Amino acid sequence: MKVLITGANGQLGRELTKQYKEKSNIELILTDVADLDITDVKTVYEFVNEHKPEVIINCAAHTAVDKCETDVDMAYKINTIGPKNLASAANTIGAEIVQVSTDYVFDGEVDKELTEFDEVNPQTVYGKTKLEGERVVSKLNPKHYIVRTAWLYGDGNNFVKTMIKLSETNKTLKVVNDQKGSPTSTVDLARVMSKLGA
Ligand SMILES: NC(=O)c1ccc[n+]([C@@H]2O[C@H](COP(=O)([O-])OP(=O)(O)OC[C@H]3O[C@@H](n4cnc5c(N)ncnc54)[C@H](OP(=O)(O)O)[C@@H]3O)[C@@H](O)[C@H]2O)c1
Repeated sequence: MKVLITGANGQLGRELTKQYKEKSNIELILTDVADLDITDVKTVYEFVNEHKPEVIINCAAHTAVDKCETDVDMAYKINTIGPKNLASAANTIGAEIVQVSTDYVFDGEVDKELTEFDEVNPQTVYGKTKLEGERVVSKLNPKHYIVRTAWLYGDGNNFVKTMIKLSETNKTLKVVNDQKGSPTSTVDLARVMSKLGA
């Protein structure tokens, strides 16, 4: 099976790459922004039609949540137009698309475990652009999976790593207490994700 990973240099992309490399019968195509800018529709169509992947896993995103508030156009381009380009290009060759999304599509008002049946109500530019990304992928390619995850930790900068590092030099730590999340290991997520698709 031929699998294209976009955003392959990111935290999740790196772990998926590692796990796919351990599998047999997988031909991996790894790209990041320098090789395949997902916001460039012409390049995306050309790339997909040349390489003909059977599955596209889109790990590329504008993930700097605070920056998205001021960088609205860029957030929309990367988080909505990028998935749109990939989903429609994939559809032209009958390929599947796995779009990675986020708990930021919810408003955080409900103090319980969230499910697929909970109402979306994004409160941030990041959340709004990721939700539009989900919608456009669902609309343009019937062969799609939307994977909503939260607070990733793995081989990269993340909350868990920061806390471990700070705990080595500090006896007590001060952390905001008005945020709740489900820290999710990239190893676990990649293991589940690599079972999706063709
Ligand atoms: N990190 C989290 O806690 C978290 C939580 C929930 C959901 N998610 C979702 O999980 C997915 C993976 O997140 P991550 O933490 O692995 O993100 P990440 O580490 O920020 O990686 C994203 C990758 O996408 C690349 N990229 C940016 N713009 C691009 C473009 N136009 N074309 C192609 N590639 C581009 C980035 O390159 P540059 O670094 O050069 O910009 C980076 O390598 C994303 O969809 C994100 O929304 C993440």
